[in-house]
Amino acid sequence: MIGFISSLFTRGEPAMSEAAARDAPAIAALHGASFRRGWSEQEVEGLLLDRHVITHRALIGTKLAGFIMSRLVEDEAEILSVAVARRQRGLGLARQLLNLHLRRLAGLGASTVFLEVDERNNPALRLYQRAGFNEVSRRPNYYPGHGGKAADALVLRRDLS
Ligand SMILES: CC(C)(COP(=O)(O)OP(=O)(O)OC[C@H]1O[C@@H](n2cnc3c(N)ncnc32)[C@H](O)[C@@H]1OP(=O)(O)O)[C@@H](O)C(=O)NCCC(=O)NCCS
Repeated sequence: MIGFISSLFTRGEPAMSEAAARDAPAIAALHGASFRRGWSEQEVEGLLLDRHVITHRALIGTKLAGFIMSRLVEDEAEILSVAVARRQRGLGLARQLLNLHLRRLAGLGASTVFLEVDERNNPALRLYQRAGFNEVSRRPNYYPGHGGKAADALVLRRDLS
């Protein structure tokens, strides 16, 4: 029964909109489930309240399915984080969120968007390459290895016109 009810919330079209401070608990939980170093609710709330930070969320029903967050200073934006709930991955949700987010950043005056990504993160690299990001530099051994070799961080850039 619980599984059936929860499946109702994971179906359907995602609704995308700007996030607010009340989304901090759900965003912190999704961030924590998606990255090795999580953000606390307080950290996320601080970011959501920062006037330089722009965040979009995707809801399916009342559940957070994904978010994307950037810092915009003058005409330069940096994507701080993007994550999609495990059960919703591979369905184009990150692509939709990123498109909406880039349009909003452009509307707010961003002319360049940067981000940093682990060279091993194939889904993220595909997402960004398809959205027109190009590698501009590399930070060697930036991410610790999982018991093995460390990985480079790639710095990607996209100009918005
Ligand atoms: C990266 C992430 C946000 C992508 O979200 P998503 O909603 O699954 O992405 P989409 O469905 O929009 O797919 C984006 C591209 O990645 C590809 N992709 C998705 N999952 C993939 C996988 N497991 N392996 C390889 N490519 C994959 C898709 O095919 C698509 O490329 P295409 O348009 O050429 O077909 C998601 O995997 C995630 O939350 N990962 C953990 C957090 C993270 O690493 N964030 C990025 C940090 S820079």
